[in-house]
Amino acid sequence: MPMKALILSGGRGTRLRPITHTSAKQLVPIANKPILFYAIEAIRDAGISDIGIIVGDTHCEIEEAVGDGSIWGVKVTYIPQDAPLGLAHAVKTAQPFLKDDPFVMFLGDNLIRDGIARLVSEFSKSKANSQILLAHVKNPQDFGVAELDGDRVFRLREKPKEPKSDLALVGVYMFDRNVFEAVDAITPSARGELEITDAIQYLIDHGYDVRWQVVNGWWKDTGKLEDMLEANRLVLDGLETCMEGNVDGKSSVHGRVCIKPGAKIINSTVRGPAIIGEDCIIENSYIGPYTSIYNGVTILNSEVEHSIILENSSVKDIGSRIEDSLIGKSVVVSKDNQKPRAYRFMLGDNSEVSVI
Ligand code: G1P
Repeated sequence: MPMKALILSGGRGTRLRPITHTSAKQLVPIANKPILFYAIEAIRDAGISDIGIIVGDTHCEIEEAVGDGSIWGVKVTYIPQDAPLGLAHAVKTAQPFLKDDPFVMFLGDNLIRDGIARLVSEFSKSKANSQILLAHVKNPQDFGVAELDGDRVFRLREKPKEPKSDLALVGVYMFDRNVFEAVDAITPSARGELEITDAIQYLIDHGYDVRWQVVNGWWKDTGKLEDMLEANRLVLDGLETCMEGNVDGKSSVHGRVCIKPGAKIINSTVRGPAIIGEDCIIENSYIGPYTSIYNGVTILNSEVEHSIILENSSVKDIGSRIEDSLIGKSVVVSKDNQKPRAYRFMLGDNSEVSVI
């Protein structure tokens, strides 16, 4: 039976405010490519072409970015979820699209280095009812956590205060149609959501065959700033260099760097891994390792390292180095020479600023 895919791209992204006040978290670019696109590519590379995307309040933006999927050679169906009532609720909502077909569910803010082709092919050959992926993490209390008994997963707990293992549930799950029985049977958790973790526990408790694997290579849930920066680091480590922009004679570019068309590097140093988007201007500046600068950004007389800057923003005349930062779209960060000397801010709700 051909498999389908379900990508979850709703949710409020509360841990990434203020960026998510105006944009979908799944569209924040990692190494200048929206996170969601990595999921679509992983699914396509696993040979699946029928993809449902669960969307919420940010549906317009998601639909504009992804379209009908034809640029990836896949067919995308949008499935509105009225409210973010949980991952299992999303599965319920998608039942008319999924019908009786086995499917892979992919959380749109998860990145998995080695893709899912092998996992999908193993699952479709097996007689398992579900296949989950696990990863060792340092902060299991922030995830669904699996407890193993020999070869068998016997218990799954959503964000337990006292985790019994360091094995987190990765946001990529495979199911056959029996999952609908599970999502119909469970009740909302303490956070008021229908948890997919509880649905899988239901499958285990009712004798369904739930298999597991520990993920090879890295995996990242990009729900928070530090995870976003780490994902950016991990992807930039594998960046293919390119030199499509203009680098003047007074500039130097070292290491793994990709400079996109229309970008101008003037009297500056770029030390990779780093990516500079289309039509950026980097002048009298330093761009350090693990920096992703999206299209149309201007950096003038400033230093930026280990950061992500979104489109059309500008950073000018900043005396100190900017590090560990995520700067949204069309943001202006500049030195103010007006008197009296003072910091002058216009910050959105939930913004964070650290001054020195
Ligand atoms: C969700 C799941 C959790 C899983 C995680 C993976 O958490 O509920 O079990 O470990 O995704 O990314 P959320 O990010 O929605 O809090």
